[in-house]
Amino acid sequence: MTAKRILVVDNEAKMRRILELSLRSLGHEVEQAGDGQEALAMLDTGSFDLVLTDLRMPRLDGIGLLRALREADNDIPVIVMTAYGTIETAVAAMKIGAADYIIRPFEMETIEMAVSRALTMQVVQRENRFLKEEMSRGWGDFVGTSKPMQDLYDLLKQVAPTRSSVFIVGETGTGKELVARALHVASGRSGLFVPINCAAIPAELLESELFGHVKGAFTGALRDRVGKCELASGGTLFLDEITEMPIGLQAKLLRVLQEGVIEKVGGNAVTPVDLRVVAATNRDPQQSVDAGLLRRDLYFRLNVVRVDVPLLRDRHGDIPLLVEYFVHKYSVELSRTPPRISSDAMAILEGYAWPGNVRELENLIERAMVLCRGDLITVAHLPVGLGPLPAVAKEPGADPKPASRAPDSLALRPHVDELERHLIHEALLQAGGNKAAAARLLKISERALWYKIKRYGLT
Ligand SMILES: Nc1ncnc2c1ncn2[C@@H]1O[C@H](COP(=O)(O)OP(=O)(O)OP(=O)(O)O)[C@@H](O)[C@H]1O
Ligand SMILES: [Mg+2]
Repeated sequence: MTAKRILVVDNEAKMRRILELSLRSLGHEVEQAGDGQEALAMLDTGSFDLVLTDLRMPRLDGIGLLRALREADNDIPVIVMTAYGTIETAVAAMKIGAADYIIRPFEMETIEMAVSRALTMQVVQRENRFLKEEMSRGWGDFVGTSKPMQDLYDLLKQVAPTRSSVFIVGETGTGKELVARALHVASGRSGLFVPINCAAIPAELLESELFGHVKGAFTGALRDRVGKCELASGGTLFLDEITEMPIGLQAKLLRVLQEGVIEKVGGNAVTPVDLRVVAATNRDPQQSVDAGLLRRDLYFRLNVVRVDVPLLRDRHGDIPLLVEYFVHKYSVELSRTPPRISSDAMAILEGYAWPGNVRELENLIERAMVLCRGDLITVAHLPVGLGPLPAVAKEPGADPKPASRAPDSLALRPHVDELERHLIHEALLQAGGNKAAAARLLKISERALWYKIKRYGLT
């Protein structure tokens, strides 16, 4: 870890001195402040990477300091030090944005670990913010810059502000729900986005889910209940897996859409609703109509604008962006520095057919991140048997056996080197850059560590 500027805030001079010496021995620059107010003044004029502060101090205490920083939109990591008796205050500090807390008395190593963790976390958070704000990676919450996705964004921007019903069609995991939410956000409608999954709710409960019921309408209806249609009034009703809705209920839904009023189960009053309806299915809608799963008249009503969500295998140019996006997403979730991904692992991901589309890719990255303890995701972290595109495999004259892996990908040496490099990197991180401590963690001599650090270019 490169040298950082750390501000130590404590009203006890002896304590400040001890902390300063120990943090300097790790190669950091250290300044001292005797209370919160002094600290604020120093933070105002100098640039620091981290604050390590006591909680109980005269004039401005640790909580006051933290609050003042956050109110001024300063997101510098703050670690608070506390005694057993004031753990609740420490927890309160975490709630208003402290990076960590340490209980006194503590070992110096505890401080060192907390400092290196807080600094690493900040890098992760900054990268995440960068990813969100500055990288041109798609539109809204979508990742993808390929032509099919550009066309999708154009269509969505065009239909979102209208009141037209939208019918979303796409295979599992392509992002249909994401499309529905994006339509709502871009619609400017002030009401709620209310999803209802017609496949997940038992058929006999679906009617009351949709339209609500009055008390006593059926056994178990102990009080009046507001339905999803009413909830979505002024907003967007998302009918997910519409072909799973019982055909009788489809007729009732059609009437609601035509007349703009709902009638609660067991009631006789009607309530007007202002609905924008978005429906989705992963089946072929025309086939569903022909098979009697979807009423023709409801289909016409819903299918004013049809949106087809592209398959992932039809836009595999977006795969590296998606991989990077999910790696960052799970790094933040797992509080770690984002690992890189080896080029042969990426080649496999780009060549795979992705029957489960983006969801499958997301799950696979999450799994790889759990398996990979170091800073490089390799082929070893991917499930075996990720085959090539079927279209490629079926090409006349093409090699019939799945041949997506590079021929030398089982060679031992590169993998062993990679593993060794990760472990050394991890140890250096845990030891806060202290090579003697890292060597102890690795149970090798310091001299051997020096040699390996040079070999892997880790300095
Ligand atoms: N273009 C995209 N960019 C980023 N994330 C995406 C994209 N498309 C889908 N995802 C993510 O993939 C996952 C699956 O998406 P979603 O639930 O919208 O799929 P779906 O089409 O509704 O699937 P199903 O038919 O199985 O319900 C979600 O976590 C979603 O955020
Ligand atoms: Mg879905």
